Amino acid sequence: MDGMTYWFRHAAEPRAVPRGRQFAANALRDWGLEHMSEAVTLIASELLTNAVAATGTTKAELSYRERETLPLVAARLRVSSRTLMVEVWDTSRTLPRMRTPETDAEDGRGLPLVTLLCERWDTERHPSGGKVVYAVLPLALPPVRVAEAQVEPPPVAASREEPERLPTRVRKAGGEPKVRPDAALLTRLERLLERKLGRLVAIGA
Ligand SMILES: Nc1ncnc2c1ncn2[C@@H]1O[C@H](COP(=O)(O)OP(=O)(O)O)[C@@H](O)[C@H]1O
Ligand SMILES: [Mg+2]
Repeated sequence: MDGMTYWFRHAAEPRAVPRGRQFAANALRDWGLEHMSEAVTLIASELLTNAVAATGTTKAELSYRERETLPLVAARLRVSSRTLMVEVWDTSRTLPRMRTPETDAEDGRGLPLVTLLCERWDTERHPSGGKVVYAVLPLALPPVRVAEAQVEPPPVAASREEPERLPTRVRKAGGEPKVRPDAALLTRLERLLERKLGRLVAIGA
């Protein structure tokens, strides 16, 4: 650990997921990036769930011996000056494939959720075996709170002026994005995200 990188390793069993979430929350608190915690813990949670599903067991209670024989999953969190990267490694060489989510089915929603929460995600086989699935988020600075006493009230005359007209449409350089997200899918994913966050709050994760 060099101050900007944190590692997590665990046997590929279900409890790797809540522990991985806790690991991510601790790392973000340590970096003063708590405001990114929800997105990052959810991404870590989805990627670790997939890593365990691809290589490990679904059995909740394991003996010491059983746990010892399981393959490992690992997560690494890294911050640079501009990005935060969540990497999850597992021993399987099979690469993830985004499924087309069926209406109302909760299966196949993990990677679309990750897509929603990060700037980009990708996967690559690791030279020492297995593969890494990684998600990159832009590093968002913590919101700045300005003490009320420091805020100057606007001059009375200025408040009567016509508000400056805002552009009705802001275009990014390079024109329209190539892929338009499906609005209905986004709404469904947002609902799923809300439910998942609700569940995490309920279990105190
Ligand atoms: N780490 C992984 N290793 C191998 N296959 C994976 C991995 N992650 C995801 N996949 C494949 O991609 C599919 C889509 O993943 P996801 O969107 O999370 O949906 P779900 O996990 O509900 O099936 C999975 O069903 C699986 O086949
Ligand atoms: Mg999944």
